Amino acid sequence: MPAELVCFEERCRARFPITEVLYNCPRCGGLLEAIYPDAPPPAAELRGLWRGRRASNAPLDQSGVWRYREFLPFLSDYDPVVTLREGNTPLLDAPRAAQYGGLDRLTFKHQGFNPTGSFKDNGMTCGVAQARRLGMRRVACVSTGNTSASMAAYASAAGLQPVVFIPHGNIAYGKLAQALEYGALTLQVEANFDQILALVRNLAEQLGIYLLNSINPFRIEGQKTIMAEMMDQRDWRAPDWVVLPGGNLGNTSAFGKALREMKAMGLIDRLPRLAVVQAEGSAPFCELLRSADRSRLNRVEHPETLATAIRIGDPVSWPKALREVLATGGVVERVSEQEIADAKAVVGRCGIGCEPASAATLAGIRKLTAAGIMRGEADVVAVLTGNLLKDPDYIYRYHTGELKDPKGVAIQPRFGNRPVVAPNDPEQLRTILERY
Ligand code: F0G
Repeated sequence: MPAELVCFEERCRARFPITEVLYNCPRCGGLLEAIYPDAPPPAAELRGLWRGRRASNAPLDQSGVWRYREFLPFLSDYDPVVTLREGNTPLLDAPRAAQYGGLDRLTFKHQGFNPTGSFKDNGMTCGVAQARRLGMRRVACVSTGNTSASMAAYASAAGLQPVVFIPHGNIAYGKLAQALEYGALTLQVEANFDQILALVRNLAEQLGIYLLNSINPFRIEGQKTIMAEMMDQRDWRAPDWVVLPGGNLGNTSAFGKALREMKAMGLIDRLPRLAVVQAEGSAPFCELLRSADRSRLNRVEHPETLATAIRIGDPVSWPKALREVLATGGVVERVSEQEIADAKAVVGRCGIGCEPASAATLAGIRKLTAAGIMRGEADVVAVLTGNLLKDPDYIYRYHTGELKDPKGVAIQPRFGNRPVVAPNDPEQLRTILERY
């Protein structure tokens, strides 16, 4: 039986052919997900197959997404696939960050090592493959930056036309630069992410443009492989916790689905707990988890954070994310701008580095261990979602003491590393170096 799209809402569960262009359930408006009616191959067979492909020179096998293709069998053939060798991201031990976070040990799964520098590439190779399979010519996304960079690259590589919609003035320069360089028609709209997404969802349908935001169920399928690859790298030993930043909550949904499915397939024997971390000024999901009524998310009208990747007040995937977090016994935390900035500098000092949204993970870990929710000896994997070079402006301002939070309050450069302007004079240079 071929894969199908199914409505995520328990009360509906309507099913649709995998080749229908749908983003929401036409019956109830619920979110959709891909399901696979056929029984998967046995776990032992899959583990061997996937490990074996690491030695292969075939493009599909070299991709850290398509290597796991039996885990996301939504295509009937692989002709539409364009791979830039996405995934293949390392697990990095970071003792210094562990200490800062109150843990004995901490491992980062660094998605910033992807071809366009963020975890979006894992999903985008799948979304673009589905677009080609459906015969679409134009693809679009609304983005806080990384999705647009990724979509622009994959669409151009696949011969499709990318159209990106971004909030004017509120995206990191590295990301905007990527969208331009990869050839996307780039529309800087004078509205915030949530407002533009509402606008474009209607427009895309009217204009026959394929939408590649994270409500697109095929992007979620690709992002599942972040968890599959992580487990493979750990020889299928599940950690106690997986920590990730939360914005539009696509990744939280993808990780939850991946963990659920891997458990059902016998690839792992228990579920790690998901810990989602949001920025204080953009934390509607954290609010939801703390409220008595979880049937409705109260959106944040004017979301604010310097971690622009997660500057989102009305996350579309919250119903999925809620169910996934609860199913793992997970938690949602929020952290301040100062906490994000310091955690980010600590990740940098480990020689690893990441963009601001990613650093919310370490800031969240520090809070969760201090609160006794996460034990110091816990086995924790934190997902760094984006590369350090995405937002160099933030970095320079932090280290020089010029960074201000959205309310205009100065961020203290507790781990600051100011550049030293030096004269062209050997004696004075010697003095500076001796003093350092
Ligand atoms: N980290 C980074 C670096 C991101 O770019 C994003 C989302 C997130 C975390 C949050 O992930 O939305 O799945 O909860 N960026 C999107 C974009 C919204 O347009 O690039 P999420």
